Amino acid sequence: MPPRRLLVTAALPYANGHIHLGHLVEYLQTDIWVRFQKLRGHNCRYFCADDTHGTAIMIRARQENRSEEELIAEMQAAHERDFAEFGIEFDNFGSTNSDENRALCAEIWQSIRDAGLVKEKDVEQLFDPEAGTFLADRFVRGTCPKCAATDQPGDNCSSCGTTYSPAELVDPQSTLSGATPEVRTAKHLFIELEQLHAFLDEWTQCGEHLQPEIANYLKGHFLGPTDKPEPLRDWDISRPAPYFGFEIPDSPGNYWYVWFDAPIGYIASTRQWCDKHGENLDDWWKSDDCEVHHFIGKDITYFHTLFWPGMLKTAGYSLPSKVHIHGFLTVDGEKMSKSKGTFVNARTYLDHLDPSYLRYFYASKLSSKVDDIDLSLDEFIAKVDKDLRGKFVNLASRSAKFVAKTGLSATYPKDEGLFDAASSAAAEIAQAYESCDYSKATRKIMALADSANAFVEANKPWELRKDPENEQRLQDVCTIALNLFRQLAIYLAPVLPKLAEQTGVLLGDPITHWDQAQTPLVGTPVAKFKHMIQKIEEKDVQKMIEESKETTPPTPASGELASADGNESANTTTLNDPWKDPGDPLAAEPLAEECTFDDFMKVDLRVARIVSAEHIEEARKLLKLQLSLGGGEYRQVFAGIKAAYDPEKLVGRLVVCVANLAPRKMKFGLSEGMVVASGPGGSEIYVLSPDEGAVPGQRVH
Ligand code: MSP
Ligand code: ZN
Repeated sequence: MPPRRLLVTAALPYANGHIHLGHLVEYLQTDIWVRFQKLRGHNCRYFCADDTHGTAIMIRARQENRSEEELIAEMQAAHERDFAEFGIEFDNFGSTNSDENRALCAEIWQSIRDAGLVKEKDVEQLFDPEAGTFLADRFVRGTCPKCAATDQPGDNCSSCGTTYSPAELVDPQSTLSGATPEVRTAKHLFIELEQLHAFLDEWTQCGEHLQPEIANYLKGHFLGPTDKPEPLRDWDISRPAPYFGFEIPDSPGNYWYVWFDAPIGYIASTRQWCDKHGENLDDWWKSDDCEVHHFIGKDITYFHTLFWPGMLKTAGYSLPSKVHIHGFLTVDGEKMSKSKGTFVNARTYLDHLDPSYLRYFYASKLSSKVDDIDLSLDEFIAKVDKDLRGKFVNLASRSAKFVAKTGLSATYPKDEGLFDAASSAAAEIAQAYESCDYSKATRKIMALADSANAFVEANKPWELRKDPENEQRLQDVCTIALNLFRQLAIYLAPVLPKLAEQTGVLLGDPITHWDQAQTPLVGTPVAKFKHMIQKIEEKDVQKMIEESKETTPPTPASGELASADGNESANTTTLNDPWKDPGDPLAAEPLAEECTFDDFMKVDLRVARIVSAEHIEEARKLLKLQLSLGGGEYRQVFAGIKAAYDPEKLVGRLVVCVANLAPRKMKFGLSEGMVVASGPGGSEIYVLSPDEGAVPGQRVH
């Protein structure tokens, strides 16, 4: 097979937060793929960069009283250190805030203009006159126009659930300066994506570039059926000053929205590398001989499968051969959580654990599907220990020392067909890597490890060495064991580059090509066996979690905090069940016994409004609520929600109450009902609210 030219990217991490274990799913998945391709002899390059623009960076720099440039330089250094220590090797790691990127943005923009895809529209947005900036929804708070709850965010009311635009808030306040924002109209530039509908239909649906579930999702949610297409929304790609980004050359005072210049950063990073290595950019981005592979998470599907191909097509660049989309990381079945210590930064991990553990564990979990992957901490500890030490390294540690003096046998001994079996597994394992099904690859490799270990168990070199008569047999058994070990090290090299390197040193033959697994090593010296991997200690995992509880600073989930056209809604949409709610409350509290409709109707649930709420000094958990059921009917209820709610925030809000519960005399007075809520207790209590429009006194059934 002639070498392929492969250009590979992972999404550009935002410069406003540190790398965490969730990110690493992607950067490791990509690194493994790239290392695999390189090991196969392909001309493969891995490009990435920091994604540096947008409101979030601008605001953070202001708060920290320094320039954006200083902030992003510091973050980039931290990112690069973290990646390097995890063995993630980029051919170039750039920045979207680079000259190369600015020039490419201008060029691509011109093509989009020339194609007649740009139009102008006026957009209303709140403006903070003191801070001198347009405000993203999350930087505005005020009183809900519906229920009058105070201190509500700019997009929806946490009390009554109504959604509104920030301009509708009563008494709005900027959280940046405390000033009252003004509604200002600003001109925005839009790309009419709809003009590319037919092309995008064809490109996304042809079955070559996207996983089938992604193609279906795009059709179902955005493109619509071929005979009844849904128009694609115009894409708002400009932001008025002040904005940290590139000013649009032919629209002074306006800046490209961060998601316009971010993917162009892939090309800019390639250009930097080309310039350093005397390569021609067009051979990588405008040639049919080059495959472009993007690796991304499911949350940024829309940008990479609709906007980006649209931009590339219009500007005459190669389209991605494949966009490989992965799911999200959960820890012990739940979303990463700062309070539980499962939101672990790369740095915190590195302070306690060997990166090889995580590389192997993620590999053993990753498939070509978009499913989320779970880092169950118990499974992590058990699997790393069992597979890496118990099955893999053990092969070498139990045999290398017996041939340190003699080296390997001069000819490869008879081995019951083990070496041949493992060398003929190469194609299947390679296919699994190629299709990103690393869990299949590692399963297959561990099955080979099992056969190799069975051979060592049966031949017991540690027994053979006791009798000098067995000298030759001992050398042969160890020659076989070490060659089988080496095959595994070659197959695992994309996942475990450090172990592959150590294997090369041990056997005096560096691992540089996949096909080395086809020929046994014979007659060569064996170095003194050096320790290859530490036992994973549960206490170190615990320490990492403990430390993450204390030190993890909050990181905004996205680099851009608002968009006038709601682009972020695309950013957070996921597949079929977009929530994939983790955890299993049903297991914690199994469903109650079946009841009849009549049984259910015995419980009289009513909509009620909380008209007053107050602390009771002596009660640790209780708030005293007065509920209105309408028509002058009131109920006093003591609710155990003190740790979860501030009384001021409850007043005015609608809830559901059990209105016919037998009254209960409590230390502080009579409780005449119950407010319906979910959650385990303490600060995790979630009071149910009817949608706006419900009226106190209405029955709930
Ligand atoms: N800056 C954008 C990407 C621009 S690409 C032109 C961005 N940055 S990010 O830092 O939020 O995420 C970088 C990548 O990491 C994304 O592909 C994202 O899906 C992935 N992940 C971030 N958190 C993740 C998990 N918790 N789990 C798995 N992947 C996650 O998006
Ligand atoms: Zn409200």
